[in-house]
Amino acid sequence: VAPAPDVPPRSPHVATPIETYLKSLHMSLSDVMAGEVASYIPELGLADPKKFGICIATVDGQLYSVGDAGCPFTIQSMSKPFMHGYALREHGQERVARQVGVEPTGDPFNSITLDDVNNRPFNPMVNAGAIAVAELMKGDNTSERTENMLDFFGQFAGRPLEIDEQVYRSEHATGHRNRAIAYMMLNTGMLSLPPEEVLETYFRQCSIRVTCRDMAVMAATLAAHGVNPLSGQRVLSPDHVRDVLSVMSTCGMYDYAGQWAFDVGLPAKSGVAGGVIAVIPGQLGIAVYSPPLDSVGNSIRGVAVCQKFAQDFSLHAY
Ligand code: DON
Repeated sequence: VAPAPDVPPRSPHVATPIETYLKSLHMSLSDVMAGEVASYIPELGLADPKKFGICIATVDGQLYSVGDAGCPFTIQSMSKPFMHGYALREHGQERVARQVGVEPTGDPFNSITLDDVNNRPFNPMVNAGAIAVAELMKGDNTSERTENMLDFFGQFAGRPLEIDEQVYRSEHATGHRNRAIAYMMLNTGMLSLPPEEVLETYFRQCSIRVTCRDMAVMAATLAAHGVNPLSGQRVLSPDHVRDVLSVMSTCGMYDYAGQWAFDVGLPAKSGVAGGVIAVIPGQLGIAVYSPPLDSVGNSIRGVAVCQKFAQDFSLHAY
């Protein structure tokens, strides 16, 4: 009989103060029942409204999670700041500025408006701006563009990411408002590629499957001025991170951006699947997942977590 291997006894996990804090924050918001799960993309309507996860990733690579932090969901509009970063990295500020502005709109995310002075969409966080930015994804065909996009997002998350094909198909089948926006930009000369090709990239970027943990690492990569804290890889230059965070600060929460800046004072981005990320530059990224949304399309628990966290740790930028 082989002797029993020498396994040292495992020491029990002792919760750190931040884990204890996150647990009580999670518990205090678990009973919030307000809001509606987005259903205009039919597949998103199937989400469980009770799912609720929070994850924090620090710039030195520590991760603290509570609740459903490993539950997969689609990134949706939280992809937009990263695509903006990609466009800056691959094409530079000048080229990106020809495609999209940096002015907050105060309008809903799906507003069908362009700046009538120069025909540009107002900023890369609203759908129009994100569709214009999606055109800048490199690749000669859809599969090359998808591969390049997933590679870039994987560098941010520190692991390979995939597309949720069901959500992609659901969005492709019903995204007629985004089609209207893309064709309007074709009409004004803002798009050069066929709109359906650009929309393929846009719908796919929104359908990337992530977890709270992934989003916290992606936010922490922005907090670390562009270096992924898990892999040590430089993904974006500090200048481009500054550009991305500036636009997130003013436009990331749509027509709630002003109140958000007032209450929370951190660059942030939401997605209609129920994700929210916020970035504390030089310190950490925080990600929340909870599907029920408020009337402007931001996760109710996501907003509440960030508000409370910013307040409890005095994180407001001003
Ligand atoms: O294009 C859309 O409507 C969705 N794929 C993304 C919108 C979104 O996430 C807005 N965020 N709160």
